[in-house]
Amino acid sequence: MAISQRARNAAPSPTLAITARVKALKAAGRDVIGFGAGEPDFDTPDHIKQAAIDALHAGYTKYTPSSGDVDLKAAIAAKLSHDNGLQYKPSQIIVSCGAKHSLYNIFQAMLDDGDEVIISAPYWVSYPEMVKLAGGKPVIVGTTAAENFVPTRDVVLAAITPKTRAIILNSPSNPTGGVASRQQVKDLAALCIQHDLYLISDEIYEKLVYDGNEHISPGALGSDIFNRTITVNGCSKAYSMTGWRIGYAAAADDELIAAMGRIQDQSTSNPTSIAQKAAVAALTKNPEVVEEMRTHFEHRRNLIVRLLNEMPGISCSMPGGAFYAFPDVSAIYGKRYEEIVISGSDALTDYLLDTADVAVVPGSGFGADNYVRLSYATSEKNISAGLERMALALQKLE
Ligand SMILES: Cc1ncc(COP(=O)(O)O)c(C=O)c1O
Repeated sequence: MAISQRARNAAPSPTLAITARVKALKAAGRDVIGFGAGEPDFDTPDHIKQAAIDALHAGYTKYTPSSGDVDLKAAIAAKLSHDNGLQYKPSQIIVSCGAKHSLYNIFQAMLDDGDEVIISAPYWVSYPEMVKLAGGKPVIVGTTAAENFVPTRDVVLAAITPKTRAIILNSPSNPTGGVASRQQVKDLAALCIQHDLYLISDEIYEKLVYDGNEHISPGALGSDIFNRTITVNGCSKAYSMTGWRIGYAAAADDELIAAMGRIQDQSTSNPTSIAQKAAVAALTKNPEVVEEMRTHFEHRRNLIVRLLNEMPGISCSMPGGAFYAFPDVSAIYGKRYEEIVISGSDALTDYLLDTADVAVVPGSGFGADNYVRLSYATSEKNISAGLERMALALQKLE
């Protein structure tokens, strides 16, 4: 059977691929320590589960409006106002099946064939693929660890063409953990205003910032940028609700939100009714559970970054947020163990998995082959044991 050109152009997700490989190895009896997961290892907090159970018992099991129920939109509007200083009306909010779905619909609603979206590398694997699936062209710009992997004004300016429609900002970032400073956000916002562009702000990791770093929502910097910003967020990372599939987008541009709504009407309809009730509880009750998880992540981050930097040939900058360490491993490239040559991040990933039962994610899929990503959404015991294995495997290379 013929597969469409569109589907053939979509690359498989390297993060989901590594997760599947680890699962298969574990099922075959191998004791793999995984640093691949893009999800918190904590259970969903009880009060959120209880809200879902209550919703089931109350018969809240039918279709809702496809862009999300009124009480959840009200909870999201209140959260965005209280936490982020963003004043959105419910008509400016759409609830989707995860932030990924919101982002997909943004590109479907915004882009015509050949329209460009500026994405900074290292990038979350899905951005370029979603842009391509909408007929758009991802334009990749570079960043440096010294700039927290946030693109500079000049680099972005040089990439703007008459076809540019939007810039994506993901702070804190997957895969780097980089957090944009207020000045960096201001610089990008100014470019969007000057060049009539949307700023797509993916804030899914906003609750996970460390060392007193502040999360800046660009839309809160002034009315000009508020009018051009699309704020994306969701419940997955902050509330350990990855499987519940609740994300949302908010934009002052009602027409864009309405267009996304039409796409949702004709494709998925509403996100699961029960999960929407759980999301209301997540957003409105017991904020201390988020702080508890954040504190655990911060300890783990400190441990993993210290252990990585103790390994010769590895250099890891301190990530300000999210739950990923993103070490530069390029000093190892060219080394070998017997017949195996570490030619890049894919080869290093294979070597660690095959010889040390340690799973990391190669940077190649994030547009950054000099790096690998290690998720520290796992116990301190696993971090210590996994990094000991990794250190031993690296010692064997010459
Ligand atoms: C940067 C980024 N944005 C968005 C998402 C999507 O999250 P979800 O669809 O679970 O809400 C993820 C998930 O890995 C992510 O890392």
